[in-house]
Amino acid sequence: MDLNQIRNDFPTLQEEVNGKRLAYFDSGASALKPRVVMDRLAQFYEKEYSNVHRGVHYLSQVSTLAFEDVRGKVQTFLNAAREDEIIFTAGTTESINLIAYSYVLPYLGKSDAILISEMEHHSNIVPWQLIAKMNGMDIKVVPVLDNGALDMQAFDNLLTPDVKFVSITHVSNTLGTVNPVKEIIEKAHANGSKVLVDGAQAAPHMTVDMQELGCDFYVFSAHKVFGPTGVGVLYGKFEVLDQVKPWQGGGDMIETVSFEGTTFNVLPHRLEAGTPNIAGVIGFGEALDYLAKIDVNWRYQHELNLLDYAMKGLKEFPQVRVLGTVPGKAAVICFVIDGVHAHDVGSLMDMNGVSVRVGHHCTEPLMKRFKVPATARASISFYNNKEDIDQWLSVFPKIFKFFG
Ligand code: ALA
Repeated sequence: MDLNQIRNDFPTLQEEVNGKRLAYFDSGASALKPRVVMDRLAQFYEKEYSNVHRGVHYLSQVSTLAFEDVRGKVQTFLNAAREDEIIFTAGTTESINLIAYSYVLPYLGKSDAILISEMEHHSNIVPWQLIAKMNGMDIKVVPVLDNGALDMQAFDNLLTPDVKFVSITHVSNTLGTVNPVKEIIEKAHANGSKVLVDGAQAAPHMTVDMQELGCDFYVFSAHKVFGPTGVGVLYGKFEVLDQVKPWQGGGDMIETVSFEGTTFNVLPHRLEAGTPNIAGVIGFGEALDYLAKIDVNWRYQHELNLLDYAMKGLKEFPQVRVLGTVPGKAAVICFVIDGVHAHDVGSLMDMNGVSVRVGHHCTEPLMKRFKVPATARASISFYNNKEDIDQWLSVFPKIFKFFG
């Protein structure tokens, strides 16, 4: 693959920040977009725009076909068994909330429990807390080991018969830990528990194969997979997804409506009320087409090579402490410099053209676990290069100098 050509596909990478070349290391928060995605949005709005599923007129048919075509692209991307296993939502957060309110809340009660982990993003903690207040279920938490791995011994002990649902991240957005989700799914199923996998940080980087994993639900966001914001995916294994109660009521999700009662549409429409994010979904389809042309194994290996290069470079700076060092982790570097606040680290990085995320990364319990208030995080994508890493490394001496 020609990395320079790939970088040319991303207009933002050609921008300068604070008078410096941009080294973008915040793809974990949101990925940059290839030009083809922007072009597709403009073309759709200019030449094909209309509402979907609503009209016999030409434009409505064109937009409906373009929109529904993306469902098939997502099915291929996930190797899902059926196209109607793909539900479009507003993002990972909405997908998890949908399952919390319309699957777990109606079916679980106060003698049941749900199992999550200490490394979950707030969006995979708070929805469960909210519904636990309503149905009385217990929330159990698998702890994280010092190197950032899940404590699988504790997982085995916590997976008791009352655990009816397991919700776990595939890849930690903060530590980069890649969890053994296949093992987790198999053990959970043997226990009679259903499983949701938060794939927000896995889908942009690695092969995610629903038939291979066998999970009941898998969720991720389009904007982290080089598509537009405001689109998410909820994958559900058909027989489980079919048990999900109607979520939002409105147009498209119904079969017939009368004041005596309403009957509901089939999947996937039953879980997609109202006018969807038509343009966003179509732009997402373009992003998936773009990605399909770049070998996923090449992409992931390139990211891991950059991670290795970065970690070797960091050895020069013993003042920098990295959280999450488990072998086989994804290309995320979460770091602290004792005595320097993460926001100051981020600001100095930014002054030098380097974009990193700082704060608790929506994982406050994990910050507490590692006894840090905040960290900086460099998340690597396939469009990064060694020059980006060198630029990032070159800021550390400036930070040490500035803060003494
Ligand atoms: N969840 C996103 C992140 O990790 C926003 O930055």
